[in-house]
Amino acid sequence: MKRIIIFASGSGSNAQRITEFFQDRKDAQVVQILSNKSTAKVLERANNLKISAFSFNRSAFYETDQVLNLIKATQPDLIVLAGFLWLFPKNIIAAYPGKIINIHPALLPAYGGKGMYGANVHKAVVAAGEKESGITIHEVTAEYDKGAVIFQAKTQLEPEETAASLAAKIHKLEYEHFPRVISEILEKQ
Ligand code: GAR
Repeated sequence: MKRIIIFASGSGSNAQRITEFFQDRKDAQVVQILSNKSTAKVLERANNLKISAFSFNRSAFYETDQVLNLIKATQPDLIVLAGFLWLFPKNIIAAYPGKIINIHPALLPAYGGKGMYGANVHKAVVAAGEKESGITIHEVTAEYDKGAVIFQAKTQLEPEETAASLAAKIHKLEYEHFPRVISEILEKQ
């Protein structure tokens, strides 16, 4: 059975969707959810889903091998960032080459980079008068949003679109495609 670890910083609706998608599968399972925020709703969701979950602080992540060792103990086949907002450290990237993926709520390379997350992205897309946006699933490297694109899906913006209405459309796309793309990546390993 393939093992998935999810990193998330906030609500964790994608983390929940992915966990539920694999719940009754024999070929792959979400085995752990990790967060950089001890009060994040994703930890409550993990608890309800009966998935092992931990939070960690900045120094454990960037200055020690504590988080790396936690990951190693879980022996993941894939590390999935689902709304995780901190830059991934080089020690973890080096230990799992090609095995860490992220989802971004826009069509990279547009609207990516530091500070471009969640509502900030949707506000910028709406303010620029874009006609379309979408989701990008990509490999994680030591720079924000620069890794190879694995999958993109688009949605159209209406003239009266708001950041909130766009966020809802993007979440719908994420729920539809992210678990399936994860499953396909694992099948190819
Ligand atoms: C998702 O829309 C995800 O694409 C985005 O955060 C949201 C998390 O929602 N990620 C980024 O912006 C990364 N730069 P969720 O916590 O409900 O899954």
